[in-house]
Amino acid sequence: MRVPFTASRPVAAARAYVTAHGIYDLTVNGTRPDDRVLAPEHTPYGAIQLYQTYDITALVSAGGNALGVVLADGWWTGRIGTTGDSCQYGTTLGLLLDVELAYVDGTCERFSAEHGRSHEGPVRRADLFVGEAYDARRELGAWDRPGYDDAAWLPVRRVPAAPGALIGQDFEPVRPFEPFSPARILTAPNGDTVLDAGQVVAGVVEIRLSSRAGHVITLEHGETLDADGNFFNGILNDNKDQTDVYTTRDGYQEHRPRFTYHGFRYVRISGWPGEPALENFRIVPYAAAMDDLGDFSTSDERLNQLQSNIRWSQIGNTVSIPTDCPSREKAGWTGDVAVYAPTMCFLRGAHAFLRSWLRSLRAEQLTTGAVPMIVPYLKAYRTFLKDQLGSDTSSGWGDAVILAPLALWRAYGDKRALEENYPAMRAWLAYIEQRARTQHPAGFEGWSPEERERDRYLWNTDFHFGDWLIPSIVLGNPDANAMNLTAERTMGVVGPAFYAFTAEKLGEVAGILGRADDAARYAALAEKVRAAFASAYVGADGRIEPEYQGIYVIALALGLVPEDRVPAAVARLVELIEQNGWRLDTGFLSVPFLLDVLCDQGRTDVAYRLMFQDRCPSWLYEVDHGATTLWESWGAIAVDGTASSYSYNHYAFGCVGDWLYRRIGGLAAIEAGWRRFRVEPALDCGLARAAVSEETPYGRAAVSWEIVGTQGDDGPQGGCRTAFVQVDVPPNARAEIRLPGMPEQTVKSGHHAFLVRVERRA
Ligand code: BGC
Repeated sequence: MRVPFTASRPVAAARAYVTAHGIYDLTVNGTRPDDRVLAPEHTPYGAIQLYQTYDITALVSAGGNALGVVLADGWWTGRIGTTGDSCQYGTTLGLLLDVELAYVDGTCERFSAEHGRSHEGPVRRADLFVGEAYDARRELGAWDRPGYDDAAWLPVRRVPAAPGALIGQDFEPVRPFEPFSPARILTAPNGDTVLDAGQVVAGVVEIRLSSRAGHVITLEHGETLDADGNFFNGILNDNKDQTDVYTTRDGYQEHRPRFTYHGFRYVRISGWPGEPALENFRIVPYAAAMDDLGDFSTSDERLNQLQSNIRWSQIGNTVSIPTDCPSREKAGWTGDVAVYAPTMCFLRGAHAFLRSWLRSLRAEQLTTGAVPMIVPYLKAYRTFLKDQLGSDTSSGWGDAVILAPLALWRAYGDKRALEENYPAMRAWLAYIEQRARTQHPAGFEGWSPEERERDRYLWNTDFHFGDWLIPSIVLGNPDANAMNLTAERTMGVVGPAFYAFTAEKLGEVAGILGRADDAARYAALAEKVRAAFASAYVGADGRIEPEYQGIYVIALALGLVPEDRVPAAVARLVELIEQNGWRLDTGFLSVPFLLDVLCDQGRTDVAYRLMFQDRCPSWLYEVDHGATTLWESWGAIAVDGTASSYSYNHYAFGCVGDWLYRRIGGLAAIEAGWRRFRVEPALDCGLARAAVSEETPYGRAAVSWEIVGTQGDDGPQGGCRTAFVQVDVPPNARAEIRLPGMPEQTVKSGHHAFLVRVERRA
């Protein structure tokens, strides 16, 4: 679309306000005003339509000018979500444009795109999942500059638009994230030419080459190779081609797709004129342009790789909204955000990003109070979740409405996220209360009055994902329904458990917001639910059915096991871990609590064993098998190298980052916004050193520690060593120092150093 305009007098300031149905790329006299892509961001467009504001003063000249806009399908009409269905929001693309010219003489002029003209261009198709096809022979020359002859172009059609509330975009746009050169080009065993980025990313490949016209270059994107080392794209469901096609023109040319992005590390190249070389390619990740805040490193390269994997999974899943994965779904699964939010907020400045997503969540909350499993709640998901699961929501997943704002409050000390979501949180809990009170399992009528009364506090009906993706149920199970089995087996107990959690967390939020009555009411409700849970599910011997590690972890973490039975439950949890060869067997909702529960129950030794475990399932198994991001399933690549159709870029299990920073590095906020934090590093975890830092609202907080000397028998069982611990406390903050052999002390801002003796763990 071309929108010519005249600046009749000298211009003091010029701004363009732009949004679209679909996604757009804007140029002013042939120049892009910034490097953002995929605008407008993904929101429930029927309710919220974000517009972007560009200062185009420097690009406008006196006299004739032209705006150029390329429109593509994006989330509006594209084939998106797990099912790959098209037209989630509408069937026709559209542009809304408002330009304001403020002249030096104090007068003002505005115009829209009504007098614009449109034409087909070199982008032949563009879909966020399927990919982009670009025919350079069809480039239109200086079409987005003044003086271009657009007589053959068609006038634009004015259509009545009913956009959602127009809101100026108030969070970081999607931009290229540190483009880099690929690692290598390989010839696969089957003869394919495959580009290896060296890193799993969400983004695109930029190409540059000199060529004759008419070569059709195809780039297919995949996240892993198969067991033989060949290109592999096993993404489930339709329209997941992740394939870009570029048709050359004559001469030197550069091209970067702007209307799609892929989850990939490997790219199968075909149709390249001659031999492709590394300098022909650049890997361009896309991500919301947040600031980096947190850092973590240790003496163990495997842990450092894990940290890098967590960070890259976050980067790849913060394209416009928090997504589950860039390849299969690009969907705002609420459960993934719920478990990962603390790590996300530590690593990068996710404040505005998550607040915006939470605004979408509020817009999508159902009138019943149910929080959808996915935000934005695409039409395709509504239909297929209703058909397959009979539900819009799930315990744990809907809790993102509370857990994400709490993570924002704790990390950045800003109460607004709690305040603005408080009504939505209350509605979510009211929904759960109502379901628990009115829905009962079969046989309810025949129960004793006590059991019936108790059942009013148990959310033991409806569909839930439960402790989703328990490894022992999923790994090696050829049954296509294996994933759902984890839900089926655990939802009956996880639903009631998370009801207690929701009530307790809402009570906590009410307390922070100074709503004492609510705080008391929700705390009392949580108590009732906990009691009902204990009486219904926790045996006199501390056993909880079904006996999975994650069920014990959840019950212990959420305080659902009566105190006298805690030791037995902990012992049983450790027994299950031992029986599993000191390997975890936990799913989505228990992984975030697993290592903390063990540490809090005095079994730090077991937590370390799980952390440093390298047999599947474990974090380091993935690292040892070449992962550069977190996998959706621990065994996505099997021991024999077989690749499966899981996603290789899922941040959910990266939630362990939060534990690593707090417990291994030893840097943990006590007060929201880091005014007070605790320094308690894991000097006995077996590492030689670790360092962790965070750009807090007060400035940089950091802990670094190193084992500097050993005394006595330094065998694995005994002896003692010396550790040198350094702490940086930013201005106006305080740190509570907890180090072995020293009384606890509080230190003020500045640099502090400590030398302490570390007893070896027996
Ligand atoms: C997604 C998950 C999500 C889950 C729901 C998957 O398809 O990728 O991350 O939370 O479904 O259980």
